[in-house]
Amino acid sequence: MNRILSGVQPTGNLHLGNYLGAIRNWVSMQDSYECLFMLADLHAITVPQEPAALRKSVRETAAAYIACGVNPEKAAIFPQSAISGHAELAWILSCHTPLGWLNRMTQFKEKSGKNKENAPLGLYSYPVLMAADIILYKATHVPVGEDQKQHLELCRDIAGAFNRAYKTEFFPIPEPVILGAATRIMSLRDGTKKMSKSDESDYSRINLTDDTDTIALKFRKAKSDMVEGPITYDETARPEAANLLNIYATLKGITREQAVAEQDGKNFSAFKQSLTDLAVEKLAPITARMRELLATPDYIDQVLAKGVAKAGGTATQTMREVKDLVGFL
Ligand code: AMP
Ligand code: TRP
Repeated sequence: MNRILSGVQPTGNLHLGNYLGAIRNWVSMQDSYECLFMLADLHAITVPQEPAALRKSVRETAAAYIACGVNPEKAAIFPQSAISGHAELAWILSCHTPLGWLNRMTQFKEKSGKNKENAPLGLYSYPVLMAADIILYKATHVPVGEDQKQHLELCRDIAGAFNRAYKTEFFPIPEPVILGAATRIMSLRDGTKKMSKSDESDYSRINLTDDTDTIALKFRKAKSDMVEGPITYDETARPEAANLLNIYATLKGITREQAVAEQDGKNFSAFKQSLTDLAVEKLAPITARMRELLATPDYIDQVLAKGVAKAGGTATQTMREVKDLVGFL
């Protein structure tokens, strides 16, 4: 049975990068796989969070999953922290993960900055928890954006290390699924930086809660380049144009080459107008649905409770077998 697990950290507004790089692909896979989509709240607290804001963000992120097209009748949607197996398995896996493997993780280097001595242990062991999330359900496929690739490679190594240590093939080795032209959406203010929830400028990203006027304004203000003449795709020389072309192609469901051909002869500002119209057309229904869902928090809580019940059964079974393999009485 093919099963997918993925998740987003519930830390503030979801943005176009989360949608195009991850959630949209979940939706396209949900009819062919058994699906588990969690709210990665245990991962969220690797950086400081305000408790009330975190609680609110878990519901908002769940609403965003559903508004983007995840079907709560089919997929289990649940907060990671509600299922104790994630943290429990992470501990066991951490006993099979050499420090050298974690030392290579670029995200820790970026997030811990200059002051590594003060970085919390959880930020360092973050990828071990992520491996536990995936193999707790024996997921076979993991759809994510490009930035998670290194963590998934580590997950494969950790699953292999566990299997070798206990002379078993208990955990399947999961496959990353990194799909489409939008695996790495860049900031609208700087074509060399990833679009991110934590960028201090709200103009750097399109949030899934932005209204039509805001979306239009942000694309109008998006950084252009100084190249005269028609729009072309060149990631190195014209990173901003390349990013907008990738967004356009993915929203429209066409290839990058088709997008360039469609814009043939047009200048940057004409292209931005087509992009704005397209983005508004595709995102407005998502935003509207999100608003409706957030007005019915009881419904969201019901979806989450159902998700916990569904995922929890599989997790309990895995943990029973893992404890047996490890030799716990
Ligand atoms: P995060 O916001 O870090 O919890 O990421 C959640 C999911 O969205 C992961 O699968 C990421 O790889 C994906 N993602 C985040 N930012 C981007 C981006 N700028 N472009 C494409 N995918 C992204
Ligand atoms: N680390 C992922 C991110 O920030 C979120 C995440 C946590 C995840 N556990 C996961 C993604 C398991 C896929 C599978 O984007």
